Amino acid sequence: MPDYESHDFDVIVIGAGGAGLRAAIEAQERGLRTALVCKSLLGKAHTVMAEGGAAAAMGNVWPEDNWKVHFRDTMRGGKMLNNWRMAQLHAQEAPDRIYELERWGALFDRTADGRILQRDFGGHRYARLAHVGDRTGLELIRTLQQRAVAVGIEVFMECKVLRLLKDSEGRVSAAVGYWRPSGEFVIFTAKAFVLATGSIGKSWQYTSNSWESTGDGHAMAAWAGADMIDMEFVQFHPTGMVWPLSVRGILVTEGVRGDGGVLRNSEGKRFMFDYIPPMFAAETADTEEEGDRWYDDHTNNRRPPELLPRDEVARSINSEVKGGRGSPHGGVFLDIASRRSAEYIRRRLPSMYHQFKELAGVDITAVPMEVGPTCHYAMGGIRVEADTEASTVPGLFAAGECSGGMHGANRLGGNSLSDLLVFGRRAGIAASDFAEGRTGAPAVADGEIAAVFAEATAPLERSDGESPYDIQRDLQETMQRLVGIIRTESELTEALVELDKLEERCKVLSVSGPRTYNPGWNLATDLPAMLTVSRLTTKGAIVRRESRGGHTRDDYPLPDPELGTVNLVQRVTTDGQYTLDPEPLPQMPAELRTLFEEDAH
Ligand code: FUM
Repeated sequence: MPDYESHDFDVIVIGAGGAGLRAAIEAQERGLRTALVCKSLLGKAHTVMAEGGAAAAMGNVWPEDNWKVHFRDTMRGGKMLNNWRMAQLHAQEAPDRIYELERWGALFDRTADGRILQRDFGGHRYARLAHVGDRTGLELIRTLQQRAVAVGIEVFMECKVLRLLKDSEGRVSAAVGYWRPSGEFVIFTAKAFVLATGSIGKSWQYTSNSWESTGDGHAMAAWAGADMIDMEFVQFHPTGMVWPLSVRGILVTEGVRGDGGVLRNSEGKRFMFDYIPPMFAAETADTEEEGDRWYDDHTNNRRPPELLPRDEVARSINSEVKGGRGSPHGGVFLDIASRRSAEYIRRRLPSMYHQFKELAGVDITAVPMEVGPTCHYAMGGIRVEADTEASTVPGLFAAGECSGGMHGANRLGGNSLSDLLVFGRRAGIAASDFAEGRTGAPAVADGEIAAVFAEATAPLERSDGESPYDIQRDLQETMQRLVGIIRTESELTEALVELDKLEERCKVLSVSGPRTYNPGWNLATDLPAMLTVSRLTTKGAIVRRESRGGHTRDDYPLPDPELGTVNLVQRVTTDGQYTLDPEPLPQMPAELRTLFEEDAH
């Protein structure tokens, strides 16, 4: 067995985005020996890419807003498949988490009378996204990172965690990984672990996700025996860049539409008026004049259709492109130039201005942007208990995007940043409780450690095998083509066949060179997780024979009322088999159910 270094803590948090940082702060402030382990550098986690804001019913712009309206919007956006308790906690606690960030130094944009300014986003009845221009994630990470350093959390950067190992009683006890620069192995033992590893989007060709989003936490939890929930629901954000090809997929914030931008097809038509679903008809403007009145002075209570939930907008864009009314590079036009002054655009959307100027040579204050759907967010993930974020494996907690349930079939924009604050904190509390109550030192078998090392180093010992880059390319092409925004049974079944082939090819991966500074080897160690999350997504998508939220089946274009009552729960068995069981949704209490019957604003 290769040499390795080891570290022992009470609580280990894997992932240093918003959820991980928030969880670690909580555990460290409780006095527990806490460490953060992250794949990239501190401050570089994908949370920095979150742009438009964090949703919280603070009522600073619309005093009518409150947690009940936010809860209702979130559930309706998620097509009622959300874990109601998570949605309730999120709506109730998000304002406190934003004010806490402010106390810790976050500099939000302000209303004229000095309160935190809130912006409009799709599916939210009221303007409720606290924001910092279009760089909210950066400010959030900066603030949490400063706090984490101030409270003395130990941080281990550029460490790729490969596997979680359990003790003889089935409690997670160790995380086995390696330092990306040196390739040397490392083991972290702890009494409790929090996964906060973010997304899975790098298994698709066009994604807004950063390089880290290879589904490591999802896969490690599944391999450790955790329940995975609703993995079929993958969100395609309506607006990613489509051109130039080298930057295709990069996020174009929903804030553009929230601040007045509209979508047009190649004929110049504001096509979203043609796609208003019955569920949202009562509150969506059905004429341009009405929609614009809402934008201009908010006197009209019916919102423009560009601010429908993301799944509706992404599908509509897809239909326009398929119908031959797309932009030259296969998207549609997002126009804010003709609707807002250049000064306003540069002030409210500075990153968008620079992004298009520098990457595409386009001045968005003068001409429309070309945009199209991009793989953005996994609604499904590790099944957690709503109040504690405990997974179904003892000693393992999950928060943020790698956990599932909160967003149901479709996440509303802005709910992610507040989700990771609310549930990061809760995971930190519950992991600390677990660590304090755990008896005996965490222990794992040497043989299991050796097996992880052997699997990781196998590609380095093989020659003339498959290149990890080829497999990554083929996987991304497969998922984009066959498990994309619109799905069919035959394509999904074909995807499973392709995934089988890719898994076989992975068995003969080969990488040249040493473990030191070896990106090919780094990628080889990401591929098992990428394949696992792809398989979980595809299997769930086959069984969910309906269209709901982020999951659209061309062969089952309507929601199925029966499937609207279940979550799909998947497990990976110890011998690598996948099981899938529909399980009834947790029952919402009557006092919350009434919010959907009465007009809750
Ligand atoms: O469009 C955006 O700014 C993305 C925000 C989100 O996904 O919550």
